[in-house]
Amino acid sequence: MSNRLNTLVEAAELRSSNAERDSATELRSSSAERDSATEKSSNPPDVRQALRGVAATVHVIAAKSGAAFFATTATAVLTVCLEPPTLAVCLNSTSAMAAHLSAGALFSVSALACGQVEVARACAGGLPHEEREQFFAPSHIPGALLLEGAQAAFVCQCTNIVPVGTHAMIFGNILDVTKHENVEPLIYLNAQYGSFEARPEQISG
Ligand SMILES: Cc1cc2nc3c(=O)[nH]c(=O)nc-3n(C[C@H](O)[C@H](O)[C@H](O)COP(=O)(O)O)c2cc1C
Repeated sequence: MSNRLNTLVEAAELRSSNAERDSATELRSSSAERDSATEKSSNPPDVRQALRGVAATVHVIAAKSGAAFFATTATAVLTVCLEPPTLAVCLNSTSAMAAHLSAGALFSVSALACGQVEVARACAGGLPHEEREQFFAPSHIPGALLLEGAQAAFVCQCTNIVPVGTHAMIFGNILDVTKHENVEPLIYLNAQYGSFEARPEQISG
């Protein structure tokens, strides 16, 4: 390598190691600032309080059983895998909905659109279960109802149920899906309903 090329390479290496050191220092100081505002505890009330700061999409889980209809607002909904397409929902084991569900049963999982706060409240105890059916329409799969106007809605067939403490983790194989053109889901954060707003792109320079 020529002397001039050597000098250029050394200068570039020095710039890059300075930049790494500066960004490591920045990271350390910003995580130190967060640490000083962090409280550590595993008390259930503190866990509950901490979870208030974790945003979740609001869903309604629904199932029909003969003439009976159940619908429950739930944020504990998880995409498990795409092969096979599988969702999981976590429901209180004492709820009427959890009691109805068993392996093979059909249920639907509808992610609410941001204008559906009324539905969220109704299905969280605001209306009796039988009156919650007014928000639903039949799906392509006989026996399964989907929430009208939902952000996205999935018909699932229960594959297995895993009890966890007071709750039951209900796994469902996705049989059918519908989605809304606009992406405006209903979000629950800090005990309030709201919507998602993307941050403008950060321009680095
Ligand atoms: C925003 C929100 C999220 C909820 N998430 C869940 C959940 O993930 N799992 C659950 O079992 N209950 C959850 N609940 C509580 C149920 O919606 C509620 O207990 C139930 O629907 C009350 O109606 P019921 O007792 O008449 O069935 C949630 C409630 C609200 C308001």
